[in-house]
Amino acid sequence: MPETPHAQHAAPRSPIHGPALPIGVAVTAVGVLLSLASAPVAAPVESSPLPEPIAVMQVPTVEVGQTTAVDPCAEKAVQAALAAGDDASVIAGFGGGAAFRSAVVAGNAPCISLSDPSRLWVVVNKLRPLDPADFAPSGLVEVPLQTTTPSGQVRSDVAAAVGQMADAADDQAGRIGANNGYRSYGLQVTTYASHVHDQGQAEADAGSARPGHSEHQTGLAVDVVACGSACGGLDGFGGTPQSDWVAANAWQYGFIVRYEDGGSPITGYAPEPWHLRYVGVDLAAAYHEGGYHTLEEFFGLPPAPAYTP
Ligand code: DAL
Ligand code: ZN
Repeated sequence: MPETPHAQHAAPRSPIHGPALPIGVAVTAVGVLLSLASAPVAAPVESSPLPEPIAVMQVPTVEVGQTTAVDPCAEKAVQAALAAGDDASVIAGFGGGAAFRSAVVAGNAPCISLSDPSRLWVVVNKLRPLDPADFAPSGLVEVPLQTTTPSGQVRSDVAAAVGQMADAADDQAGRIGANNGYRSYGLQVTTYASHVHDQGQAEADAGSARPGHSEHQTGLAVDVVACGSACGGLDGFGGTPQSDWVAANAWQYGFIVRYEDGGSPITGYAPEPWHLRYVGVDLAAAYHEGGYHTLEEFFGLPPAPAYTP
């Protein structure tokens, strides 16, 4: 069984970025209700309800960038890269990560599906289950880090990236190990069920995805832990030098911290500073440079705080 995740509450992060709008549209300030973790809470995720919203933040006016191509999906290079499963070249064909994001948000990328679980840009949340529900990625390999659970596989591109990231972290902050990587649909069934059994459904839903709704099932997510002479657990990761380093630098290796402090009203999950989602270096750079804090906002998708009844 995978290690049980527990709540972590790092220092409050900067405000959630506002929803993205189509190309060339000046976005007026919009109030966004934020849920900022107000104080450390020692209880585990599964026994902690989502933080109460405590602040309303104003999102500044931003100008959304232009795509490079008028019709990116008509570009031969984009079509060839899509057919080859070369996501990085698809993004390059759009003109880079920011242009790709803008085209998707503007509805100018009909060849791009945010529901394709084999793509770097897939968005999985409580309103966006994997399709098919029992999807399994190909090309799984062992994470090249010390692992603390039997679920130590990720996609090969993710393994290479997390290895490079861990090498840099080792030099600058300390050693990083891996807790859960890929979890199959079947493993998510037992993982979620154990949380419901232990904590009840409402609290389980704040920390564990229901089967068919976990990024771990894509092979693109990895939970990281801080290691010294031994590796710690998820509950010990927040507040470590490694956690701070990951929050600041993971984007350079293609990862985003998927469930940040303050993101609960949009993601539906309590903060998980350990849960890294691979989106590739181009999208991660656009995410970082654009000041985004949830993948939903990055792609102009609605908040997904809860499952549909
Ligand atoms: N803990 C995350 C939300 C998952 O179960 O995928
Ligand atoms: Zn995770």
